[in-house]
Amino acid sequence: MDKNMYCNGEWIGADLDRIKVTNPATGEVIGSVPNGGKSETKQAIAAANEAFKGWSKKTANERASYLKKLYELVVNHSDELAELITKEMGKPKQEAAGEVGYGASFIEWYAEEGKRVYGETIPASHDNKRLHVWKQPVGVVAAITPWNFPAAMITRKVAPALAAGCTVVLKPAEDTPLTALRIAELVEEAGFPKGVFNIVTGAPDVIGTELMENPIVKKVTFTGSTEVGKLLMRQAADNVKKLSLELGGHAPFIILDDADVDKAVQGVVASKFRNAGQTCVCANRIYIQPKIYDAFIEKFNQEVDKLIVGDGSNDNVHIGPLINQSAYEKVDRHVQDALKQGAKLVTGGSGFEQEGAYFYKPTILKDVRDSMLIMNEETFGPVAPIQLIQSDEEAVQLANQTPYGLAAYVYSEGLSRGMKVVEALDYGIVGWNDGLPSVAQAPFGGMKESGLEREGGHHGIEPFLETKYVSIGL
Ligand code: SIN
Repeated sequence: MDKNMYCNGEWIGADLDRIKVTNPATGEVIGSVPNGGKSETKQAIAAANEAFKGWSKKTANERASYLKKLYELVVNHSDELAELITKEMGKPKQEAAGEVGYGASFIEWYAEEGKRVYGETIPASHDNKRLHVWKQPVGVVAAITPWNFPAAMITRKVAPALAAGCTVVLKPAEDTPLTALRIAELVEEAGFPKGVFNIVTGAPDVIGTELMENPIVKKVTFTGSTEVGKLLMRQAADNVKKLSLELGGHAPFIILDDADVDKAVQGVVASKFRNAGQTCVCANRIYIQPKIYDAFIEKFNQEVDKLIVGDGSNDNVHIGPLINQSAYEKVDRHVQDALKQGAKLVTGGSGFEQEGAYFYKPTILKDVRDSMLIMNEETFGPVAPIQLIQSDEEAVQLANQTPYGLAAYVYSEGLSRGMKVVEALDYGIVGWNDGLPSVAQAPFGGMKESGLEREGGHHGIEPFLETKYVSIGL
């Protein structure tokens, strides 16, 4: 499957060197995309800039009708998109189908939300003045998206940007550009005006530098590591570019002793093993109180033992491969470090390589301590470390003891007890008795070093809008 880049309504880059795309479950090359660079990025930015003139002048209803067409096309091509996601990213096919539905929900939501971009009228201090606040699109937006959700992280950024009247240059992850380019084909089929949506593939540093330095780009929206987010912030300083950053997480999963243990087990399994633990919001540290510690571990182990690891295109598989060798090495390093420092292995604890593909068994570690690597760094793999805690205060103190602040989870059946813990957590998202809180209509994003701004809900369109105050003298 060889695809080219999408720029100004044309498919470009057939003459460039190619980057191979491989299936992380088999090591097999499944396609290629052009190795675009500075000049293609400039071309895409110029196209988006030209298209902005017309797109920003369309009514919200007109923009919504294009987005609705795209939504229908994505839904009608769900099976095909899900198959492609499994092939280039590795997640099991039921999860890939879930991702397509999740991704489509952002297009549907923002098609409508664009119609509710309201300004304000402010009471004036003098009877000969009228004070207004207008909302206007920021301009050309650059979106840089990760490999772990090859469809949904695109639609979560691009749909609100387009609904707001912005035009977009997208740089998808090098590992998963094929889903992005298939979405571009659907954008073309939906009849969007040329230049409104463009995709550049290739070396991230070269493309990223042009996107950050080019003064035409007014806003950059990025999902990825905190390290790269910090680099983008430094680069953005030179022309004061607006930024939305969805960065790393290190989610605490707190289970208080008044929790419903069965519910908590279901919640951890969903949060921890979704996408083989390769999500920014997945449980990375599990804290449990003594009264339910052993009972929880026993039931959790029973559920984890049912999870099957393998190629996600097979029907019964729950856990696909890790994205590459360095991801595998990091996961194993965290496990070995914990074992060396005295953690006990409940299940799993090793992985295997198969023809260049890297799999890791779902792993539970108990009696973990907060000095261990795994309790301090994002693992991005199917490993559940469990630490015994004594009090609610200790849970909060350990949970907040990190530079990250994306997602946290609390399991407690007590209203005031749960409420006090939830309120004290420095996290942008808290799942209270809920292991899967992400939805299109709610804000997604982090505090502290986990990012800036929010995606999703009415909050997610604001970062693509400028606020203009207009004072009118009569
Ligand atoms: C992510 O891992 O960044 C996205 C997860 C989600 O949307 O739930």
